[in-house]
Amino acid sequence: MVQNSDRLISGDIREEDRDIEPTLRPKFLEEYIGQEKIKANLSVFIEAARERKEALDHVLLSGPPGLGKTTLAQVIANELNVQIRLTSGPAIERPGDLAAILTNLQAGEVLFIDEIHRLNRSVEEILYPAMEDFCLDIIIGKGPSAKSLRLGLPPFTLIGATTRTGLLTSPLRDRFGVLAHLDFYDPGELRQIVLRAAGILGVRIDEEGADEIACRSRGTPRVANRLLKRVRDFAQVKGDGSIDRDTAAMALSMLEVDSVGLDNIDRKILRLIVEKFEGGPVGLETLAAAIGEEPETICEVYEPFLIQLGFIKRTARGRVATSGALAHLGLVSKDVCQQRQEAFSFGGQAKG
Ligand SMILES: Nc1ncnc2c1ncn2[C@@H]1O[C@H](COP(=O)(O)OP(=O)(O)OP(=O)(O)O)[C@@H](O)[C@H]1O
Ligand SMILES: [Mg+2]
Repeated sequence: MVQNSDRLISGDIREEDRDIEPTLRPKFLEEYIGQEKIKANLSVFIEAARERKEALDHVLLSGPPGLGKTTLAQVIANELNVQIRLTSGPAIERPGDLAAILTNLQAGEVLFIDEIHRLNRSVEEILYPAMEDFCLDIIIGKGPSAKSLRLGLPPFTLIGATTRTGLLTSPLRDRFGVLAHLDFYDPGELRQIVLRAAGILGVRIDEEGADEIACRSRGTPRVANRLLKRVRDFAQVKGDGSIDRDTAAMALSMLEVDSVGLDNIDRKILRLIVEKFEGGPVGLETLAAAIGEEPETICEVYEPFLIQLGFIKRTARGRVATSGALAHLGLVSKDVCQQRQEAFSFGGQAKG
């Protein structure tokens, strides 16, 4: 089975990203590209908290991997001019671990918990009074003689990040004052991200070259930066080191990332539906068996982007490849497809 992080176009972090990410991370809201609505709201909340000299409300950042949740958490701390403590759900094993972290915070500081949906329940329960009343309830002793002790904490801001809001318990979700869902970036924003990263890395690139990388980055800054790095290598070896549209397109084609950011597996899925199942509808289980993957992997890893591009539809009777998919595969012109599809009425949209 292919791990998603094995794929060049995956939003998940890969080994090759680790050396460039710290240098490429925007530090302040001004440098953070896109997510305009979230930034506008946050800047008001941040300014208000600073003026009142209070801790900012707790913030929950959700959205697919690589969209800038960790980056934004650090930006918030920088804007507040406070320290940020970084940890993650799976790293906090016992309630005592969290109690130790919380009692070490200074007033106004930010505690960042990545993958907060993976906190274990007993740890999560410590978090409720800490978030709500800035206090810790500690049980001393065992059995009938056990006593409960309430310990005050300095006011702090919890920033939680999750790729799966649906997995968060509602008592936890309800305790965040600010809920921000990060969306995929549009190509114009990604172009700016590529140009900014190229500037920092000292790579010569023109607007069209940046556009070409942006269009193949699946709406994800992490992917855009990774592809830029790969194209830079190609430009250096095969050209004069500078990146224009042709160099970018050629490099990415060699890496088998196509004009809209699909890789071989994405295309294999589309081809299967189109060629083996005559365009669909094909049931999820059947499709998964044909590809040799688990149905959940198809659902959670491969399909979302294909659906977002409008190449696959989930219908009541199964998955259907759209006219856009056929045209993209170069199997038939878009017009012919459109006519064919208009003649064929899809079933209602179904989930899962
Ligand atoms: N808005 C942005 N502007 C410029 N660069 C960005 C932006 N968002 C993210 N990046 C770049 O993308 C990289 C990945 O972002 P980040 O690590 O914050 O993603 P994430 O949402 O925390 O991912 P994960 O879910 O894997 O933890 C960053 O190192 C940064 O260089
Ligand atoms: Mg992160």
